[in-house]
Amino acid sequence: MAETNRQLQIAELPTDKLSAQHFTMAEAPVPSPGEGEVLARTLLLSLDPANRAWMQGATYRAALNAGQVMAGFTLGRVIESNHSDFAPGDLVEGDGGWQDYFCLPGKRLNKRAPREPLTHLMSALGVTGNTAYYGMAGIGKPQSGETVVVSAAGGATGSVAGQIAKLAGARVVGVAGGPEKCARVVDELGFDDCIDYREANLFPALKEACPNGVDIYFDNVGGTTLEAALFRMNLHGRIICCGVVSQYDTANPSPGPRGVPGLLVTKRLTMQGFLVGDDPALVEEGQQKLSQWVDDGSLTVIEDVVEGLENAPAGLVGLLAGENFGKRMVRVSD
Ligand SMILES: NC(=O)c1ccc[n+]([C@@H]2O[C@H](COP(=O)([O-])OP(=O)(O)OC[C@H]3O[C@@H](n4cnc5c(N)ncnc54)[C@H](OP(=O)(O)O)[C@@H]3O)[C@@H](O)[C@H]2O)c1
Repeated sequence: MAETNRQLQIAELPTDKLSAQHFTMAEAPVPSPGEGEVLARTLLLSLDPANRAWMQGATYRAALNAGQVMAGFTLGRVIESNHSDFAPGDLVEGDGGWQDYFCLPGKRLNKRAPREPLTHLMSALGVTGNTAYYGMAGIGKPQSGETVVVSAAGGATGSVAGQIAKLAGARVVGVAGGPEKCARVVDELGFDDCIDYREANLFPALKEACPNGVDIYFDNVGGTTLEAALFRMNLHGRIICCGVVSQYDTANPSPGPRGVPGLLVTKRLTMQGFLVGDDPALVEEGQQKLSQWVDDGSLTVIEDVVEGLENAPAGLVGLLAGENFGKRMVRVSD
């Protein structure tokens, strides 16, 4: 075991676009677990758009501040345990932060069964896979023949959400940034179509791609994309509010969308937000289904692994700029 724990701390909170300069590398002693605590070596660190949202102020967690270790979801291997549920060698996940080692109370950790490759525990079988299942299968409930639109379609959550709708027999249209990513969404993930929101005017583009209107819109981005989808929704359509990545990395989030509440009323739409932890039974159901689909090859898993803790800041900045195809994570150690 190393003697020091490298930690990426927040040097300064961003007031507009995030850059790698908002973080600084520090070193601290490797902590010793106290009563009921567990020490783990970080293997994988999840990079999430929410990391940036947490820097804007309080969300579903307390606001982050300058000087603290950057928060992040981690998968680690237990080194030392003072909790009866965990033993050295176990795989655990939790809110470990951007550091080589994390020490948390056992009650804040979740044990994971080993899996090959391990990265699947952070992608299709991790938080974003669970989120996709929760929103699409649990809330949207796509039916055969329906039209489903998914934004951030080449991302961790969107890629899985769209495939779940395809497995239910829906026609699935993605929205993503850039021609190359859109082509991969269709060719590699099996979406029926994908609109490049950076090039297209989304209002006519959605009309053309969804001639029968939209029954479900899985919203990862908010802003203009949500507004354009609202205008294409069919009667009794469902809008699943998963996240608003277009609003996280800016000092000037776009107002709107227009059409709320008028279009909700006239089209009798349901618009529902959720957090993936809301219903553990649904997550458990999702884990079973997702594992089965990954194992039998009906779900394509796409991942984007950044090597080395020191590259986490640039990795997060790149994620917010749409560099990734699939779940972006950092391999902190083997
Ligand atoms: N509700 C929950 O419990 C829950 C849990 C996890 C995640 N989420 C949410 O799910 C969404 C997706 O998260 P993820 O972890 O799967 O990330 P991701 O989709 O893998 O990565 C983020 C993607 O967002 C897109 N993006 C960035 N800026 C954008 C903009 N201004 N307009 C449109 N698209 C933009 C980029 O793709 P392009 O190249 O297409 O621009 C980027 O690749 C986020 O909103 C996140 O907050 C919610």
